[in-house]
Amino acid sequence: MSNHKVWFITGAGRGLGVELTKAALAAGHTVVATGRNSAKVAAALGAHPNLLCLKLDVTRLDEAQAAVAAAVARFGRIDVLVNNAGNFYAGFFEELNPEQVRSQLETLLFGPMNVTRAVLPTMRGQRAGLLLNISSTAGITGGMFCS
Ligand SMILES: NC(=O)c1ccc[n+]([C@@H]2O[C@H](COP(=O)([O-])OP(=O)(O)OC[C@H]3O[C@@H](n4cnc5c(N)ncnc54)[C@H](OP(=O)(O)O)[C@@H]3O)[C@@H](O)[C@H]2O)c1
Repeated sequence: MSNHKVWFITGAGRGLGVELTKAALAAGHTVVATGRNSAKVAAALGAHPNLLCLKLDVTRLDEAQAAVAAAVARFGRIDVLVNNAGNFYAGFFEELNPEQVRSQLETLLFGPMNVTRAVLPTMRGQRAGLLLNISSTAGITGGMFCS
């Protein structure tokens, strides 16, 4: 891989995703910044010649495949995938409804799988690529009041 890389970042409309995108652009890389609302992603990041903002709800495999296809059509490759999108529902178990629990698993477990599944054929074709999955200590250790 050359020093100039094409990054593909999920959940880039706020929080860490915005900061990662800005840092990668400032370092001279190209970024495909994605989010459930692409207009919100574009508003958070502003215009940049090396930036493409796309719609991607990570719970949707079809949207992941469409975003990857658009990224490759525009930039020819994807070198780095950052599975950053996430949500967090914490509380006593009976305070969390089934939809919240399901949403957390769909977003933080199956979401990265959807995007990785969509990106891997491109990376395998390139015979190069880096997958970064943003996790949390909350995923590996129990926390008080965090069922
Ligand atoms: N902040 C912390 O203390 C902390 C600690 C440990 C781990 N983390 C992890 O670090 C990552 C970034 O956290 P953050 O603090 O930057 O979170 P944040 O400010 O809450 O931002 C989360 C981002 O994920 C997006 N998102 C949520 N569901 C999505 C979906 N289904 N499809 C696509 N995008 C979706 C949100 O988009 P919308 O704008 O559309 O909601 C938002 O852009 C997450 O994976 C989180 O689990 C954070």
